[in-house]
Amino acid sequence: MSSDPRQAAIDDIVARYLEVDPYAPVPDDRLPLAVPGFGAAEVAEAIDSLLSGWLTMGRKVQAFERAWADYLGVKHCVMVNSGSSALLVMLRAVVETGRMAPGDELIVPAVAWSTDLFATAQAGLTPVVVDVDPDTLNVEGEWDRPVLAVHLLGQPSRATGPLVLEDACGAHGARIDGRAVGGRGLASVFSFFFSHHLTTIEGGAVVTDDDEFADHCRGLRAHGWVRERSDRAWWEQAHPEIDPRFLFASAGFNVRPTEIAGAFGIHQIPRLDSAVAIRRRNHQDWCDRVDALGLPLRTFPEAPGTEHASFGLSMLLDASSPLTRAQLCERLEARGVQTRAISGGNLVRQPAFAHVPRARVEGDLTVADAVHERGFFVGNSHAFGDAQGQLLEAALRDAFAG
Ligand SMILES: Cc1ncc(COP(=O)(O)O)c(C=O)c1O
Repeated sequence: MSSDPRQAAIDDIVARYLEVDPYAPVPDDRLPLAVPGFGAAEVAEAIDSLLSGWLTMGRKVQAFERAWADYLGVKHCVMVNSGSSALLVMLRAVVETGRMAPGDELIVPAVAWSTDLFATAQAGLTPVVVDVDPDTLNVEGEWDRPVLAVHLLGQPSRATGPLVLEDACGAHGARIDGRAVGGRGLASVFSFFFSHHLTTIEGGAVVTDDDEFADHCRGLRAHGWVRERSDRAWWEQAHPEIDPRFLFASAGFNVRPTEIAGAFGIHQIPRLDSAVAIRRRNHQDWCDRVDALGLPLRTFPEAPGTEHASFGLSMLLDASSPLTRAQLCERLEARGVQTRAISGGNLVRQPAFAHVPRARVEGDLTVADAVHERGFFVGNSHAFGDAQGQLLEAALRDAFAG
């Protein structure tokens, strides 16, 4: 940060203005979907960027990229402006590097985020939509084709195949056999949207160990330019007839983050592990509480060998439930518990599915249909604890009592 004394005065005002600890627990009578997880350090860093005049992607984005790659234990992190942009960049890079040919099939779970499906088709691949596992609500198992392992709502997916791509957009700090998700396959994406475990306001990233893949991602995020590629000199020598400042090697997008996003992010990473530990504890405690009620409702605890990052607590009503999901959610909301459907439910049943080129379904989608009709989740956060567990337990008990 700047050594200008006026900056110190601004930092002091920001610290006093945001005096309330962003990591303080929220009131006991509410269970919101998400709680903002930033404080004075992020705001002061963002103001520092604004005052410096350097607002476009620069050294703070680079510092965040290095820190996030180091946290995950991978070589490269390429930051972009959202998790959906990261998906698009990752999947286009898969095609540009020849790992998959245009039209090749990618296994995509039916219960995922909408842009998992859309970006697959937008990248020129064929989404093959399959059912999810009844115990994790993730795509699982061993596939004969490349698979997009979506770690839904923070629950790690162990799916494998000849090529594994991960969507860890809601699974920051989740682990499989002790290793953070995001380094299992060729590449992985993250979202840093406001409500996620780690936020840069809007934001996302592609991470990979592969040098060539990372070069393609850097080109794809910024117009297709060679500027950020490690082999930039080679491209410039190979094309002496083109002005090197406007030399394009990828059929790219412009999905760069701003420097403000980097400014936010660098202060978030050190807090992640403690925040995820609280989410994990809540997750197990809330599963136990809900299970003990004996309602026609099931929970999804952490799977063996994994550490759940618990974006939220998913629940599935039994088909025999006397309450529909809409009735139950209305009653929970009236008691201060916010609810949402589990992503888009079965994405095949969304009207947008008709606009996804080439997409096709393989096998039946029994679990996805159940999730579509009877699944919902409530939020989890570093700011929640026992009080929210008690609230959830009481709200569910009362909701079923009438
Ligand atoms: C699994 C998953 N993938 C992708 C995304 C998209 O991320 P973004 O909202 O940053 O575009 C989300 C968003 O929550 C998500 O949960």
